[in-house]
Amino acid sequence: MTKPIYIINGTNLNLLGTREPEIYGADTLADIEKACGNSAKALGFDIVFKQSNVEGELVDIIQEARTMASAVIINPAAYTHTSVAIHDALKTLDIPAIEIHLSQPAKRESFRRRSYVAEAVTGTISGFGANSYELGLQAAIKLLNT
Ligand code: DQA
Repeated sequence: MTKPIYIINGTNLNLLGTREPEIYGADTLADIEKACGNSAKALGFDIVFKQSNVEGELVDIIQEARTMASAVIINPAAYTHTSVAIHDALKTLDIPAIEIHLSQPAKRESFRRRSYVAEAVTGTISGFGANSYELGLQAAIKLLNT
């Protein structure tokens, strides 16, 4: 049986829908989980969808994905710009890993221009709102199928 695709969400993303909707959109994380589940299913994959506000818990989830997942899609949120621990955990993966963001960090404050994650993943998708998740899923599945 094919392993599921892990979709991992970092800090404050549990507040999507009410958190700065002019930047992050009106969809809640539950809406995004549902849409990703449906899209993945249509393409023959299951997902495991997780969120944590705690850096070490995100590292634990990435370590779990090493053996349990076929690919990882990760929105580390603010930890994108600070976390060597998440960078190091992603470096241990032998499976495709896609960094995603709802917003386009390069267009925002200067402290968001640095991603510690970008150097440890296969590729990055950002700036498409909730669609970044669907595009990340498509990218991961394309890599898995080729
Ligand atoms: C984010 C962008 C980050 O800079 C920010 O800290 C977030 C969300 C995004 O999805 O656009 O929390 O990762």
